[in-house]
Amino acid sequence: MDIQWDSSLTTGVDELDDQHKEIFSRINRLVNMSHPEKEKEIEKIFRFLGGYVMDHFTREEEYMIRYKYPDYDSHKGEHIQFLKNYSSLKKMFDQEGATELIITATQNQAVDWLIKHIRTTDKQMAAYLKSKM
Ligand SMILES: [Fe+2]
Ligand SMILES: [Fe+2]
Repeated sequence: MDIQWDSSLTTGVDELDDQHKEIFSRINRLVNMSHPEKEKEIEKIFRFLGGYVMDHFTREEEYMIRYKYPDYDSHKGEHIQFLKNYSSLKKMFDQEGATELIITATQNQAVDWLIKHIRTTDKQMAAYLKSKM
């Protein structure tokens, strides 16, 4: 599995694209690690998802509020869903440590959710933002 950045993921809002690329490169690094390396990296990934990624969501939400994006609620709802998934995986990780199941689930969820969200939800939002900026 490889999750290299490609042009179908570009939203056209440079600040958000830079953040998406950073998120992709971190997840991609995890995906391509050997299992013993993943066990060491997964804690950092949880910190990254809970820090950088949450800040990124906040940034998008600020833009949506500033430019009165009509689909703000449903977009924010997807961010909240990610947060819920993240929280339950993080809780499992805190209780059980870096099991193979948790590593795989975190990886798959991050990859599937992010690609789908960026390619559809973020792109729609960015098209709107660009028309208002
Ligand atoms: Fe988003
Ligand atoms: Fe995003």
